[in-house]
Amino acid sequence: MAENNKTAKLSFDGKELELPMLSPTAGPDVIDIRKLYAQGDVFTYDPGFTSTAATDSSITFIDGDKGELLHRGYPIDQLAEKSHFLEVCYLLLYGDLPSAEQLEDFESRVTNHTMLHEQMVYFYRGFRRDAHPMAIMVGVVGAMSAFYHDSTDINDPWQREVASIRLIAKMPTIAAWAYKFSIGQPFVYPRNDLDYASNFLRMCFAVPAEEYEVNPILSRAMDRIFTLHADHEQNASTSTVRLASSSGANPFACIAAGIACLWGPAHGGANQACLEMLREIGTPDRIPEFIARAKDKDDPFRLMGFGHRVYKNFDPRARVMKKSADEVLDLLGIDNNPTLQVAKELEKIAIEDPYFAERKLYPNVDFYSGIILDAMGFPTSMFTPIFSLARTVGWISQWKEMIADPTMKIGRPRQLYIGAPMRDYVDVEDR
Ligand code: SDX
Repeated sequence: MAENNKTAKLSFDGKELELPMLSPTAGPDVIDIRKLYAQGDVFTYDPGFTSTAATDSSITFIDGDKGELLHRGYPIDQLAEKSHFLEVCYLLLYGDLPSAEQLEDFESRVTNHTMLHEQMVYFYRGFRRDAHPMAIMVGVVGAMSAFYHDSTDINDPWQREVASIRLIAKMPTIAAWAYKFSIGQPFVYPRNDLDYASNFLRMCFAVPAEEYEVNPILSRAMDRIFTLHADHEQNASTSTVRLASSSGANPFACIAAGIACLWGPAHGGANQACLEMLREIGTPDRIPEFIARAKDKDDPFRLMGFGHRVYKNFDPRARVMKKSADEVLDLLGIDNNPTLQVAKELEKIAIEDPYFAERKLYPNVDFYSGIILDAMGFPTSMFTPIFSLARTVGWISQWKEMIADPTMKIGRPRQLYIGAPMRDYVDVEDR
């Protein structure tokens, strides 16, 4: 974080404050307000954190105006094209692309941690069969705190490393078993001879009654979807993980908090909501009716998969996802998929509509992902668990970065109090 000789001057109530400014590697300068309350006896006010940098970080950078996303400096479209998910996990966790030897060692460590403690099988049985897989994910990941005590001491770098590998490795098993449980099929155990994405597909779709051959096209598409969802700066769920972790809570509990936050339809739950919306629209001729509803301030309906707090241009992940959707559907022989036709027509109409153009509302990562996942055979209820699976490496990388920072403090925002002034208690007989 570069100190610079710029300062920001604030004058109010007869006070003249001069606050230091800090310059980033990329993006806007920040005004360092850490001493504002001590010097000026005022707070800043920014619900929703639209103008607030809550931390410094070296992991991911987003240029919302240009529609750029970098992981440790590498553009997401290059990573999606040339890399693969576990290599991107290494990059996010350790800061640089691995050598061949480093990558082989990392992949081996992840592969050898994919099994769950066998006792956790019984944990699943506590849920109803119709439980949403996200409810199961929150419960099972939180329960890992009760099974992996030897990697919960956040002050021990080795235990932090073990917890990181365990979470990245076990999330596909946890998510696949949540799916199997919801459809009443037996759990399928991970295999060490399969790559990360193929293992996940096999755990989801294999049955004991027959051999399951992983379709390489689907495993490549699955791996790319994981890569596109891996990390995204200080989004709501990552900020949740950071805030939970700032109290010193164990990593499994903090990741469970991140999963809970991601579940919301304004965030990671949008991929399920988007596909359900596209299906509700059904045919391109019904699009104007839904566009009208999205504009109607009296109607809570929003175009799911559109808009973003940071991107005021196309989400670069949506571009890659759109290309991948075409490839996957074409390769699966699902031509003129009605949902994809509706999505493409909706994208075209919405972007040309002044309401959306003025507000810079473009398709985001969730707009096309559901179409691919649906074509691959996943129910909509599994879309956000897959997002959680992929985002675990982002949450963990951001967690490690924060915990390793010796200046880390517990997060404790203040407020603008608008409640009752102090008043005396009144006995019930006098009210
Ligand atoms: C993700 O933060 C991240 O990085 C998240 C994420 C990640 O990888 O972690 O990228 C993943 O969460 C992507 C976003 C998925 N959510 C959706 O697709 C749900 C639909 N989108 C909206 O809910 C909304 O766009 C948000 C929540 C994504 C962003 O909301 P903001 O930044 O708080 O914007 P806003 O609500 O202040 O909206 C600004 C204006 C408003 O109109 P006016 O009051 O100015 O007239 O735009 C309108 C909004 O009504 N608007 C929409 C809209 N999104 C915003 N109108 C119709 N449809 C929409 N989708």
